[in-house]
Amino acid sequence: MGTKLLVTDLVAKKAANEKITMLTAYDASFATMLDQAGVDILLVGDSLGMVLLGYESTVPVTMAEMLHHARAVRRGVKRAVLVGDMPFLSYQVDVVSAIRNAGRFMKEAGCDAVKLEGGLEVCDTVRALVRAGIPVMGHIGLTPQTAGQLGGFKVQGNDLASARKLLEAARALALAGAWAVVLECVPDELARVITAKIAIPTIGIGAGPGCDGQVLVTHDLVGLFEKFVPRFVKQYANLAPRIREAVAGFVAEVHSGAFPDAAHSFPARPDLRELLHDKDA
Ligand code: KIV
Repeated sequence: MGTKLLVTDLVAKKAANEKITMLTAYDASFATMLDQAGVDILLVGDSLGMVLLGYESTVPVTMAEMLHHARAVRRGVKRAVLVGDMPFLSYQVDVVSAIRNAGRFMKEAGCDAVKLEGGLEVCDTVRALVRAGIPVMGHIGLTPQTAGQLGGFKVQGNDLASARKLLEAARALALAGAWAVVLECVPDELARVITAKIAIPTIGIGAGPGCDGQVLVTHDLVGLFEKFVPRFVKQYANLAPRIREAVAGFVAEVHSGAFPDAAHSFPARPDLRELLHDKDA
């Protein structure tokens, strides 16, 4: 569907006042559906640690896990820009290992860009990645990898000092060369102001309608992640009960013998049937 989008096409959308859509994808089958539905950016988010792998947070997620899923997503994408999410400690230790790890997303998984969390403290790294030819998306506000330091999973930038800090971080990321920035869990008016004051697209999650684009975790959007549903999530479908119902139907029909019936079996040819029942065979 459509020609392959480039990072520059998405930056141009901000100038054209066109909204950008971004969703998480962790495997080829979801990636294919989301791509066909017209999503602009597929993010192989480190949220896969909680959504798919059953971790309590995104902190334990490794580069190996991220690359495994990013490669699978790549196989399902034709149009969308593919962004690999750099996991905790894959970019914070030093700039050289950040370039090496970001480069793996590009070279080994075919990503178009990487995303990393943080404000002023990651700007040197962002600059180095961009200089190395790697497009970078920033992520500020509620940053799940360091949520403990932020007082847990709660709205950020609620007072003037922290709101100013977020605006400063967004400006610094743009200046460092980031091509977009995710704003997570910030008051809607702050997101609107940041969006107006920087030239790169803002992609909001729990940041209100004033952003240049919106991102959600796909499993939240379709009702497949049931542990908790954040306030900012709108469920467009509720698939988990439907899957349970389908699977319960399978279990019941196998037990009763109703499945598989003739329509779902391969009838033996009459000659084979005869031979199979020939007592002398
Ligand atoms: O890991 C993720 O899914 C994310 C999005 C929620 C922005 O970072």
